[in-house]
Amino acid sequence: MKRIAIVGPGAIGGTLTTWLSQNPQHDLTVAARSIFETLTLEMPDGAVITARPRILTNPDQAAAVDWVLVTTKAYDVAGTVSWLKKLVGPQTHVAIIQNGVEHVERFAPHVPVEQLLPVMIDCPAERQAPGRIRQRGPGRMVVPNGAIAAEFVSLFAHSPLTVTPDSDFKTQVWKKLCVNSAGALSAVLLKPAVIARHEGVADIMRAIIQECIAVGRAEGAQLDDSIADQVISGYRAAPPDSMNSLHADRAAGRPMETDARNGVIVRLGRKHGIATPINQMIVALLEAAS
Ligand SMILES: NC(=O)c1ccc[n+]([C@@H]2O[C@H](COP(=O)([O-])OP(=O)(O)OC[C@H]3O[C@@H](n4cnc5c(N)ncnc54)[C@H](OP(=O)(O)O)[C@@H]3O)[C@@H](O)[C@H]2O)c1
Repeated sequence: MKRIAIVGPGAIGGTLTTWLSQNPQHDLTVAARSIFETLTLEMPDGAVITARPRILTNPDQAAAVDWVLVTTKAYDVAGTVSWLKKLVGPQTHVAIIQNGVEHVERFAPHVPVEQLLPVMIDCPAERQAPGRIRQRGPGRMVVPNGAIAAEFVSLFAHSPLTVTPDSDFKTQVWKKLCVNSAGALSAVLLKPAVIARHEGVADIMRAIIQECIAVGRAEGAQLDDSIADQVISGYRAAPPDSMNSLHADRAAGRPMETDARNGVIVRLGRKHGIATPINQMIVALLEAAS
C-alpha cells in the first residue's frame, strides 16, 4: 500500500487524485482548504469517474506519508508548507506539480532537496466547484531522470496520464515557460487566444518569448530561436476562445501566478545582466490591475 497525500485538490490536484484512486494499492489523503465529500472528474469524452479520498482540512490531523503531491498554485507556498511539516518524514518524496521553472527553489527552504521531485504538467483542467473537476484533454507529465522519478512514474501506471523522465528537464520547463509567458497578454487584455491573430499583439508575444529564450539559455536550457514563432502558431491554431489560467484568474478576481510566469524572467534576467523590458512591463501592468 502506498500512502499518498495531495495538497491542493483543485483542477490539477483533483484530476491526479481521481486517477490515482483507480489503483486499490493507493491510500489517498487530500489536504484541502475548501471542503467536499466526493471528487468527480469529467473526462474529455464526457465520461465521469469519482473518488472518495480521506479529506483533511487541518494540518494537525495529518501524519507522514510515502508521497506528497503538491498541486497548489505557485504563490501558495506558505499555506502548503504548514501541510508539509506534518506530511513529510525522512522517507517521504515530495512532487512539486506546478507551472514555472523554480519548483525546487520554492520548496528547498522547507524540504531536503534530495526528497523533492519537480514535475512539469500539461493537462488542461478546470475546477467547476470544490471537488468537481473537468479534464478537457489528455494529461502528460515530465520529470527529471532518476530513482525518485521511476517511482513517480509507477504511481500513474494504472492511469491514462503519461509520465516521461527527461535527462534535460530544464529545457522542458523553459519551453513551457515560453508558452506561458506569452499568454500573459491575454490576462492584460482580458481576451482569449484569438488575440495572437493580431499582428501587433503577435509581435509583443514574440518579444516576451525572445526575452524568455535569452534568460533560459543563460540558465542552461537549450532553446531554439524558432520557438517564438512556434508558440505564436500554437496560440493561433487554438480554439479562438481558449482562456489560459492567468486570464481566467484575473477575470475571476483571483490571485495570479504572474511571478512564476513572467516575474521569474525579469528576476533571472537581472541575475544574468539580460534586459527584459517587455516582461517587466507585463508584470507591472498585471500587478497594477490586481
Ligand atoms: N489547470 C490547468 O489546466 C493547469 C495545467 C497545467 C499546469 N497547471 C499548474 O498547476 C498548478 C495548480 O493549478 P490548478 O489549476 O490546479 O489550481 P487550482 O484549481 O486553483 O487549485 C489549487 C488548489 O490549491 C488549494 N489550496 C490553496 N492553498 C491551500 C492550502 N493552504 N491548503 C490546502 N489547499 C490549498 C486551493 O483551495 P481552494 O479550493 O480553497 O481554492 C485549490 O483547490 C499551478 O501551478 C498551475 O499553473 C494548471
